[in-house]
Amino acid sequence: MKILAIHGSPRTIRSTTRILTNFVLEGAAEAGAETEMIDLCDFRVSPCTACEGCSFNGICVYEDDVPAIVARMKEADGIIFASPVYIDNVSGQMKLFFDRLADAIHYQVLAGKYGCSVATTHTSGGDEVIVYLNHVLNYLGVITVGGLSVATGGNPEAVDVAEDSARALGKNLAGAIASGFSDPVQEEEIAGNREFFRAMVEENRDFRPEDYKRWVRMGWIG
Ligand SMILES: Cc1cc2nc3c(=O)[nH]c(=O)nc-3n(C[C@H](O)[C@H](O)[C@H](O)COP(=O)(O)O)c2cc1C
Repeated sequence: MKILAIHGSPRTIRSTTRILTNFVLEGAAEAGAETEMIDLCDFRVSPCTACEGCSFNGICVYEDDVPAIVARMKEADGIIFASPVYIDNVSGQMKLFFDRLADAIHYQVLAGKYGCSVATTHTSGGDEVIVYLNHVLNYLGVITVGGLSVATGGNPEAVDVAEDSARALGKNLAGAIASGFSDPVQEEEIAGNREFFRAMVEENRDFRPEDYKRWVRMGWIG
């Protein structure tokens, strides 16, 4: 079982979000998962320009590191999104990355995986960012098992207080993967999204036949 954390603070190893995420990964590792972390700021992530090039073949016109990151997400059974709160939202690094996932969302290439979210903030927006991060995971077809945000009040050591909760979240994620956890409410939402994207997959059938066939195989196109 593999769990991959994607971390969006530009502060790399000084990041409190990263420290908190590491606790989550340690909890998952104790439950038997193989874990890894991607620091987004170490990778080249070009901003989406809405050229719609990816809708022809799933390949972005920019040759950067996003395809390699998505490949690692595909290999994982569990995905953690982790971001500091910037002006009551995710960091710019995280948002640029999310915008590049539009094709992965439309074609549901990560469906069936499990995930959770992590955020830190000085004061505001932590819970809202967790809701948003989990929403993006659901958009990708990923079932979420919860999230954790910590308001540090400017004291980075405040994340240590949340160590046990973070480890429990990681253990919970690993447990969900092992047991094939299901959540009818999220599954209904994901099925609703798929129904919306189905029209696109059918419309693009002639130039994306493999994607179309995958949707038929998955039973998403009858
Ligand atoms: C550009 C920027 C915007 C921020 N916006 C907020 C905010 O809206 N609310 C808040 O309480 N803290 C805000 N903060 C503080 C960070 O959320 C907080 O320090 C966080 O724990 C940093 O995480 P990191 O160490 O992982 O980078 C902001 C920090 C920066 C640099």
